[in-house]
Amino acid sequence: MNTATPAAFRALRVHAVDKRSEARFETLSLDDLTPGEVVIRVAYSCLNYKDALAITGKGRIMRQMPRVAGIDLSGTVIESADPAYKPGDAVLVTGCNIGELLDGGLAEIARVPADAVVPLPAGLSLFEAMALGTAGFTAGLALRRMLDNHQSPELGSIAITGPTGGVGAIAITLFKRAGFHVTAITGKKASTEAWLRELGADDVVSRQDLSMGTKPLESVLWGGAVDNLGGETLAWLTRTVKPWGSIGSIGLAQGPELQTTVIPFILRGVSLLGIYSVEMPRPWRLAIWKQLAGAWKPQGLDSRIVTRVIGLDEVPAICDTMIAAETRGRTVVKIAGG
Ligand SMILES: NC(=O)c1ccc[n+]([C@@H]2O[C@H](COP(=O)([O-])OP(=O)(O)OC[C@H]3O[C@@H](n4cnc5c(N)ncnc54)[C@H](OP(=O)(O)O)[C@@H]3O)[C@@H](O)[C@H]2O)c1
Repeated sequence: MNTATPAAFRALRVHAVDKRSEARFETLSLDDLTPGEVVIRVAYSCLNYKDALAITGKGRIMRQMPRVAGIDLSGTVIESADPAYKPGDAVLVTGCNIGELLDGGLAEIARVPADAVVPLPAGLSLFEAMALGTAGFTAGLALRRMLDNHQSPELGSIAITGPTGGVGAIAITLFKRAGFHVTAITGKKASTEAWLRELGADDVVSRQDLSMGTKPLESVLWGGAVDNLGGETLAWLTRTVKPWGSIGSIGLAQGPELQTTVIPFILRGVSLLGIYSVEMPRPWRLAIWKQLAGAWKPQGLDSRIVTRVIGLDEVPAICDTMIAAETRGRTVVKIAGG
């Protein structure tokens, strides 16, 4: 094992150029990175929708620039100013502002705050940690919050929107494993139905065939929902979830607006649960990773959920296809291997 920090390393860094942003491959040194106690040789990173927005410049993700992209990483500690970590430790980092405010994981070397570091839980490899990444962690957080809010299989099917994406695909496997009937609502049913059923979806519905109605309450259809889209889809879910069902609001792939009324909340007891994976009490983070490595660990993580393993050079091209909703499943970026 090589435990020396190299003098120079490659990274994909996003710069502000006039009023837009531009991602560039660069050679950096440790002094170029934002401060942190722990230096990590990155083995794997992965691509989330947020990374695609940051790298293509389609969304305002970077809160300061230039910054190394990549909200997730797994790898091995090289140096640590915090005694909790020592050279050779296998670790992962998801969220915690890396790839946004702090330099991130799409680099051969990363430096991060000790608070952001999660010791690799027993039961997960460095590769599997990034097969899950923020997407898997967020799906796990949604399951945790919904179970804590008394969501049970008896209430009925869980509708999962954006199911061919990273969060959605892993949510299918987690909710199925937890005993729920799962309905995947996708924009590309024809090309992905077989794969969604392999992951665990009991029903697959085409988003284009939905009739959403406009009444404050529509006929009940779902026991609960995991929503990656926002916009009119989330508004429709509030109108169609059964009494006492929960909706985990995760994403905005369709839009950030939400036009609804209080009627589903006060006449059906529906709960809209916010899911925020970036910052949270550390004990929650550790507990969810432990579950993901153990009882919740998705089957077929590397064979079915991960559809692509790429190198750093291929990242910008895949980000374009993610924004166009043409990808499915998870993309792992192999930096140095595990
Ligand atoms: N709250 C949090 O902490 C958190 C954490 C992670 C991700 N997120 C958010 O969750 C969402 C999903 O993330 P991800 O990493 O899973 O993304 P992803 O892998 O790119 O998947 C997004 C999926 O959403 C659907 N979609 C994409 N563009 C769409 C559009 N314009 N209209 C309708 N549907 C569209 C597609 O699914 P179908 O073709 O199957 O419909 C696509 O596969 C994103 O909005 C992301 O920012 C939030």
